Amino acid sequence: MNMRVNFQPRRLGHANLYVGDLAKAVEFYNIVCGLELVRREEEIAAAFLTNGNTHHDLGLMQAKVVPETWVDLKGRQRHRAARDMPVGLNHLGWEMDNEQQLVDAWRRAKTTGVALGRTLDHQISRSVYLPDPDGNFHEFYADAMDDWRKVFNLEEDDVVTKPWDPEAVEPDSTPHWIENPDLRDVPDAHFHAQFITHAGIVAKDYNAMKRFFIDVGGLTLSEEAEDGKVCLLRGPAASVDLVLFHEDLGLKAGLAFLAFVVSGEEALRSSHERAKQAGIHVISSVDEPGRRSVTLRDPDGVNVVLYTGSSGNLGLEAGREVIDGIRS
Ligand SMILES: [Fe+2]
Repeated sequence: MNMRVNFQPRRLGHANLYVGDLAKAVEFYNIVCGLELVRREEEIAAAFLTNGNTHHDLGLMQAKVVPETWVDLKGRQRHRAARDMPVGLNHLGWEMDNEQQLVDAWRRAKTTGVALGRTLDHQISRSVYLPDPDGNFHEFYADAMDDWRKVFNLEEDDVVTKPWDPEAVEPDSTPHWIENPDLRDVPDAHFHAQFITHAGIVAKDYNAMKRFFIDVGGLTLSEEAEDGKVCLLRGPAASVDLVLFHEDLGLKAGLAFLAFVVSGEEALRSSHERAKQAGIHVISSVDEPGRRSVTLRDPDGVNVVLYTGSSGNLGLEAGREVIDGIRS
């Protein structure tokens, strides 16, 4: 059957990474990049960060976990199960307009025989997980409540996730994503990331990956290089959500970078200076009028691009430039 699954998310909402040392990773994204820590879940060794764009722009999970049992401050018996995952991308999280659209796409995916993973209820959102042709995981999710801070905060650390049966109840067709978020700032941070905007992925099978993001993901191909080795894909609420690179360009397949927009050129310039003085290693930087970006590397080797929101930073050339900077 030739039917497109077409999840068609609005935009990339978050990235979730497996990390070698959760405390170190939280410190990097909080103190160096400027994302606020909004939630911890001790039982799954996870932390979530955002400045208010979504419930989390970044999820961090300890890659290796040994089983442990403890009694928390409320006297409750808590248990952490073993985990042994490689560090790097856990999944990219794609924000749907509403749950009805998510469930409709999930039903089409079942009909067309697309490989599907779990469906989960996170209270703040409901999610469908599935792998792309290269084996990277993607979460298509719909927000389930307007005030996510009621659940995602630092007061409670109970695990919010449970299995979700998309057929169990009539799906909610009301959008719950935040239209004009009041963005917070981490004043003492070196950089002042506002929110995640896009990710770069190096594809083992570039054409199959491109087809996956268009036909299954429902993203729009907005630009592709003449040599067919780089393309830009996006949902309707973003300029670019994903930069897809051909493995021929000389990079390891998988996540190439995560990109976060900062508040402006002056902010980025002074952050860059401050980072140099603090001895923070800058992988590469672009410093031209209207086009500024700084690439850092997180403690596990994930490249993090901090850039000003001008359109020159969002085209194919900028994508190639980031890759060149990472490779050199
Ligand atoms: Fe997620």
